[in-house]
Amino acid sequence: MDFKLKVSPSLLAADYGCLAEAAMLAESGGADSLHIDFMDGHYVPNISFGLELIPALKKKVGIPLVSHLMISNPVARLDDFIKTRTDYIIIQEDTVKDMVGMFDKIRGEGIKPGFAVNPDRPLKKLYKELFHIDYLLILGVFPGFGGQTFIEDTLRKMEEAYNFRLKNNLTFDIAVDGGVNRQTAEIIVKTGANVLVAGTAIFAADDMKKAITDFHSLG
Ligand code: DX5
Ligand code: ZN
Repeated sequence: MDFKLKVSPSLLAADYGCLAEAAMLAESGGADSLHIDFMDGHYVPNISFGLELIPALKKKVGIPLVSHLMISNPVARLDDFIKTRTDYIIIQEDTVKDMVGMFDKIRGEGIKPGFAVNPDRPLKKLYKELFHIDYLLILGVFPGFGGQTFIEDTLRKMEEAYNFRLKNNLTFDIAVDGGVNRQTAEIIVKTGANVLVAGTAIFAADDMKKAITDFHSLG
């Protein structure tokens, strides 16, 4: 299994006046996927994009779209997200009781499932679910807003995930989201995490392509 380091710009930090252009620039700058945060103003105290963004972006870029659902009831909205034909559906692990059933349904629709873990939630109780996902999203900040400071304590969870994946011969991506910049990325990649999700560090950079290349060079 190839765990080459991948870079996934988070559109939350892009200029909303030209989202499609930002997505296309990220793709031509070498991004491996695009990270799209859906926030419902309930699970997190912020509201972001609507689901229509996914089919609109699909017309503009070819790289996979990773939908990160920061919403209280993803079960109720699952069919809507499936209809968008997003490439990945990542739910917050504390919002769903039967995650495995949900992952099976997502996979049956030809979409890759995954879950996200908040900084204050342990991974240990989620080992069973790790056998059913393509993508583990470890949050380096409490979700809701871009531009926050990375919580270093979450590095331990990345190491734990890496060791678990190795020991069990699994192939899910270990992605890190929140507070990822050139400095924190250096310590993050040492844990074995293989996807860097970054909003501010990419979309607020003077040279987006260089920011993405610099991240890739850590791999
Ligand atoms: C946090 C979101 C992130 C956010 C990261 O709630 O899930 O995807 O865009 O932003 P930065 O990279 O600026 O910390
Ligand atoms: Zn996110």
